[in-house]
Parts: sequence; structure tokens; C-alpha cells
Amino acid sequence: MTTAEDPQPSNTEPAFQIELRRLEKSYGQGRVRRSVLNGLDFQAQAGQTVALLGRSGSGKSTLLNLLAGIDQPDAGEVLVNGRHQSHLTDSERTDFRRRQVGFIYQSFLLIPTLTAFENIALVLELNDVRGGELKRRTATMLDDIGLSDRGGSYPDQLSGGEQQRIAIARALVHRPKLVLADEPTGNLDEDSGRSMLALMHSLVSQQHGLLVMVTHSLAVARSAERVLTLEQGKLFEREGEFAW
Ligand SMILES: Nc1ncnc2c1ncn2[C@@H]1O[C@H](COP(=O)(O)OP(=O)(O)O)[C@@H](O)[C@H]1O
Ligand SMILES: [Mg+2]
Repeated sequence: MTTAEDPQPSNTEPAFQIELRRLEKSYGQGRVRRSVLNGLDFQAQAGQTVALLGRSGSGKSTLLNLLAGIDQPDAGEVLVNGRHQSHLTDSERTDFRRRQVGFIYQSFLLIPTLTAFENIALVLELNDVRGGELKRRTATMLDDIGLSDRGGSYPDQLSGGEQQRIAIARALVHRPKLVLADEPTGNLDEDSGRSMLALMHSLVSQQHGLLVMVTHSLAVARSAERVLTLEQGKLFEREGEFAW
């Protein structure tokens, strides 16, 4: 959804596009080497929401790490806006990860010694946002997730659903183009899962980002425009099966 306040109008060219070409990834050594991704292709752009299904151990987390630039493929290419990621220097890759990617994990991974406010603000600091702007944007984000009165709480003082809201805020506060969620509702009860899913969709669409969610949940899969399954190291687009 594009609004009048949208900082980057999105009615012309897509603002962000990612493509995976013939990706290969295996683990282990010599004879015990195990192929996880096996010539995998994928293409998606800002404004889309994608659900990724697959059996445990099929390589979903490996794939997210390659999309995020946290890990490198053995062969094949990751292209962001047509640019080969393998041509980037380490510092350019770090920069991409820090500025353009937001990651939401099943186990939240909040920093226990920092308050909710500080967990969110840290990401802005890493993106060179300081002072009044840092405070204002962190407070706005807390407000967006309905936790403006909990900024001073530490993670262990918050419920699972509240911690996951903070984790969403932390993943989105720097307005990344690529939002990756690895089984984001896996540790939540049904109600918290539903509300966190709605929140994630609404914030990512406001920011005109690309959302890629790994999930076992049918509800999560149904909330996405595109559903793909990872099988034998390749991705398969499911047409229509989940659109009910
Ligand atoms: N760092 C690693 N070292 C060795 N094997 C790994 C590593 N990461 C993942 N694997 C293996 O790769 C396969 C895919 O893992 P993963 O991507 O985590 O699957 P999924 O997220 O779909 O459950 C599994 O067999 C896993 O054991
Ligand atoms: Mg996984």
C-alpha cells in the first residue's frame, strides 16, 4: 500500500529486487558432504509477501541466510537490484545486511541486558541514526506495535507475544527493503501468532518491503501472496493451493 507519506513512491520501478540463480550449498567434507541447495532459482521484489514451506532440514534457514548475505553460496549467484553480491567487498556486504535487511527469528533473540527501547534503538545506532531522531523513531516504532508503555521493560519482563512485537520493531525500525522471518510464530499461541502476523504484514507493506517468511503454519502461508516449497534443494511455486 502506498500512502501520501510514503518516503519512497513505489508506483514506478520496483524499489528492490532480489534474484537467486542456480544456487548451490552443501555442508560437511569429502564423502560426508551433504548437498542442501541444489541449483535453486528464485526471484522476488519489494511489495511482495512470500511464504516458504519445507520439511525440517530441507534448507529453509540456509536459504534465508544466503538471502541476507550472512552466508555465501558454493556456486550460483545472489543478485540484488541486478548487482552480483559476490562482487561486493566484506564491508559492502555488512552494509547491505545492516541497512537493507531485517531478520525476525522464532526465538526472538532480543538482548537480555537491554530494555525494549534499547533493543530497538541499537539497530538505528548501527545505521548512524543518533540523538533526537533516534529517540523519536524508536518511540514511534514502540507506538506502532502498541507497546509505548513498555519501552523500559527488559525482555524477561515481557510475554512471548510482546517479545515478538519488539523483535518485529527491531527488524523494521531502519526500514529495510528485505524482511526475513524464520518461523516467526513458532513460539506463540494462536492469538499472539495471529496478531503478530497482522502487525508484520501491515508494517512491511507500509514500508513497501519484500517479506519472506519461513513457516510450518498454514495460517502464515495463507497470509502470503506467494507460497513456495523447498524440496530436494529447489524451490517450487504453489499456484492457488493456499488461496482459500
Ligand atoms: N553450519 C552448518 N554446518 C553443517 N550442517 C549444517 C549447517 N547448517 C545447516 N546444516 C545442515 O543443512 C541442512 C539444512 O539445514 P537448515 O537450513 O537449518 O534447514 P531448515 O531450516 O529447513 O530446517 C540440515 O541437514 C542441517 O543439519
Ligand atoms: Mg530452520
